[in-house]
Amino acid sequence: MPVTLKSPKQIELLREAGRLVRATFEVLREHIRPGITTAELDIAEEYIRSHGAEPVYKGYVPPSRRGWSPLPPFPGTICASINEVICHGIPSSKDRLRQGDIIGIDIGLRLNGWIGDACETFAVGQVDDSTRHLLDTARKCLDLGIEQAQVGNTLRLVGAAIQHHAEQEGFSVVREYTGHGLGRNLHEDPTILHYDEPRNTRKIMAGMVFTIEPMINVGTHETRLDRDGWTVRTADGRRSAQFEHTLAISAHGPILLTA
Ligand code: MF3
Ligand code: CO
Repeated sequence: MPVTLKSPKQIELLREAGRLVRATFEVLREHIRPGITTAELDIAEEYIRSHGAEPVYKGYVPPSRRGWSPLPPFPGTICASINEVICHGIPSSKDRLRQGDIIGIDIGLRLNGWIGDACETFAVGQVDDSTRHLLDTARKCLDLGIEQAQVGNTLRLVGAAIQHHAEQEGFSVVREYTGHGLGRNLHEDPTILHYDEPRNTRKIMAGMVFTIEPMINVGTHETRLDRDGWTVRTADGRRSAQFEHTLAISAHGPILLTA
């Protein structure tokens, strides 16, 4: 599929969507503490709607399941992924945060037709040293990926920088879930791999808008999908952390739209 390049005007609109994503995180941050359930964090929906936007994950059906599928569309406004859940955790009144947990929150919304998408992993109270190392590494992996998002670089360099740092710190990178282009749609070309793939020779161009959203695991990179069709867990039950930004490529470097 061809990549659609965005004009400065369109990037401004994407930035407005990204700002609202960030503001939603600031609201949720206040609620993240031991005792709250992930269903309660789905109050993000009200905040998003009251600001003239709509959630984009709610009701989402992956392309591979369009037509007939026994699996339901995504039911939540946010993804809430605790500890060994890598991504796409469904908000639930049964999932209560405990001191020492980590929770990945992913927010996607559409404002005036344009998408903003970001993810952040939060510590619930104090976490142990190895979990702190995981969080710091996952954030650094995102930063290093962003640093490579320069006009003229291949997309391979983004994934290579991420994988190199993760493995240097003793962690692994999830393969099955990727970053993605976005604009009026949540998922557009290009696909952003978070690992080194020699065939990934597509050049980064000014006007591209995409996410980088590496999922970094303490143990194996392998994943398991729950029978709910959404919840993705590490195969070994060890922890996973994710940070994501939406960014636009300019001639002078990447512009973070969700910072
Ligand atoms: N940030 C993830 C993505 O863009 C979240 C998708 S959740 C889903 O792929 F419900 F929309 F699948
Ligand atoms: Co995304």
